[in-house]
Parts: sequence; structure tokens; C-alpha cells
Amino acid sequence: MMNSFFEKFSFAHMPPTQFFRFEYEPDQCTHCKACVQTCPTSCLQWNEEKDEPFATGLSGIELACIGCNNCEAVCPANCIRLRGEYKVIKGRYKTPEDRWGEMSLPSPFGNNDLNKNFEEIENDLTETEKVIYRRRSVRMFKDKPLEKDLIKRLIEAARFAPSAGNGQPFKFIVVSNREVNRTVDQKCAKLLERIKWLYAGQNWWRKALIGILSVTSPNNWDQRPIAAMEKVRMTKGVITFDAPVVIHVLKDKRGISKPDIDAAISAHNLILTAHSLGLGTCYIGFIASTAPFVPAIKKLLKIEYPYEIVTSICVGYPKVKYDTPVPRAKAAIDWIE
Ligand SMILES: Cc1cc2nc3c(=O)[nH]c(=O)nc-3n(C[C@H](O)[C@H](O)[C@H](O)COP(=O)(O)O)c2cc1C
Repeated sequence: MMNSFFEKFSFAHMPPTQFFRFEYEPDQCTHCKACVQTCPTSCLQWNEEKDEPFATGLSGIELACIGCNNCEAVCPANCIRLRGEYKVIKGRYKTPEDRWGEMSLPSPFGNNDLNKNFEEIENDLTETEKVIYRRRSVRMFKDKPLEKDLIKRLIEAARFAPSAGNGQPFKFIVVSNREVNRTVDQKCAKLLERIKWLYAGQNWWRKALIGILSVTSPNNWDQRPIAAMEKVRMTKGVITFDAPVVIHVLKDKRGISKPDIDAAISAHNLILTAHSLGLGTCYIGFIASTAPFVPAIKKLLKIEYPYEIVTSICVGYPKVKYDTPVPRAKAAIDWIE
């Protein structure tokens, strides 16, 4: 796709983008505000005067939404819809044309699923498929501790993940001390605030710097997490949502082949098992991305060589049960037969 100099290097910062469509049907709204609470970004806010949610942008981002549909899933009155597609139209981050297309609901049986509710096809699914489609990231937890035996059961599922050369290069740090979790959040939030300031600023040197950084480390400068960093600021540094337990999944940096993949697979074993047991989880990437630059976090979590955090997982009893399947982007598939 990328063949010209222009396509490779232009619009690295805040590229021209088509955003999702946010639709809200006020008639049924219970005004519970769960949609705003669960939104991982600053996109969804509450209009106190009108007593209803509204979707908004941030800096140069027209609709600061990552399209997770959590607002839609959590709504008890089914009055929110997020549809359309997120498409970068040109430049370095242009969405490849084979991924263009409206988001759609799970359709494991292809065209036979068209116009059917998920409940109608669910009977024909395996238990694993049901968990995969119904799992949502949970960001609201009950103030109830998690039994140690249950945590061990989750880690047992993680232990049995496949790994390159069966190297099993992972380790788990389980933090059930809320003060430690809150302190880690605060330290992480400080760095995120600086990154957001750098990215969201509109003056020329910040734009130029982000442009250069987007070329040298393309994965770290996407415009979407900026809105999640703004939410962290708005909530005064909440990153792990006061979950009763945060499990950090670490890799042994010397692991065979790609230890990040091994650690991620074991993390997902843990996540799917947790949901199959009625628990809620949420991956947290912000701690892994900031910890290498904040020695205080490593000290608090007692992280030493050869280990490094790959991801962190909030675990707890969901405050509100929401396990609705939501639409996802089109899969790009090439069949070579
Ligand atoms: C590697 C990774 C890092 C993530 N980091 C965060 C995070 O820091 N904060 C957050 O609220 N959600 C985080 N998420 C959750 C995603 O936002 C979520 O999975 C995505 O929006 C899809 O929603 P769903 O999990 O409900 O299907 C992360 C997910 C992954 C896989």
C-alpha cells in the first residue's frame, strides 16, 4: 500500500480520519450514567443540564472514541448505538483498503446469521465461543475482595498457555493492596499527562516532534490513546479502576523467540477463564508502557531483571453485569486456495 514518500511520511500526527457515528435514543434512557463511567476515553461525557450523555472530541480528534462499544454494552435501556468505521483516510497511518467497512456483530455462521439476534445463534456455539463473544472489558468493580483460591485458579489457566519452545517465560505479580495499586496509578498518570500534553498540543514544534516520533516508533503515537489519557486526567489518575486485584503479567526478557507473545497468550487464558467464572477483567497497557521510565513503579512492584511487564489485568466482581456482544471491524482475509 505504501509506495510514495508522501504516503509513508505525511500526516503522521492527527491524520485526516473518518470517525464512528454515536447515536443516542433519549426516550428509554434511565440516566444511570454507566455509559460515561465505563467509557475508557474522554469521549463520552454527561450533559448535566440535559441529563444525557454526549460524545465529544479532543484537540484535533473529532470524536475521541476508540469504538469499543462499552457504552452500548453497558446501557440497560439499549439506547446507545456506535456504528460506522474508524478509517484513517490518508498518510502514514492510512487504513488499508481491505479493512474498510462498517463494524458488524459476531457472525460465526456467515450469511446465515444475517438479521438474527446473538441469542438466536448462541445455542449452536461452544462454551468457549460464548465467552469470546460475550467478554467485555469491565471497568466498574464491586468493593469485594477476590478469594485467593480463585486468583490461583486464574493463574493456573495462565500457566497452561502454549509458548515458544515451551519456554514459559512468564511471571505474575498479584497486587491486592489497593494503596499500592493507587500509588502505581498516580505515578503512571503523571507520565501520561506529559505525553498527552505533548501530543494534544497544537503548536508547530510539538506537531513536528510527534511527526518524527511517529516515524521512529510508529506504534506509540496513535491519536486514540490520547483520549484515554485525558480520561485518566479527568478522573484524577484512575488507571486500574480501584479493582480489588491487579495482576501484572511479566515476560523473562531472555525468553525464546518472542516472549511478549507468550506472556500475552497466558494473559488471555487468564482473562477468558475469569469471564467464564463470572468475573470481570480489563487489560491495562498504560502501566507496561510507563513502568520502564518510572523507577518508582518498578520499586513498588519489586520488578527485577530479567522481568518486564507485558500487560496488567484488573480483576474483580463486576459492579454492573454487561456481557453483550458488540460490533467489530471487518476482518481482512486473503484466501489462497
Ligand atoms: C494490550 C491491551 C492494552 C489495553 N490497555 C487498556 C488500558 O490501559 N485502559 C483501558 O481502560 N483499557 C485497556 N484495554 C482494553 C481495550 O480498550 C479493550 O479491549 C477494547 O477497547 C475492546 O473492548 P472489549 O475488551 O470490551 O471488547 C487494553 C486492551 C489490550 C488488549
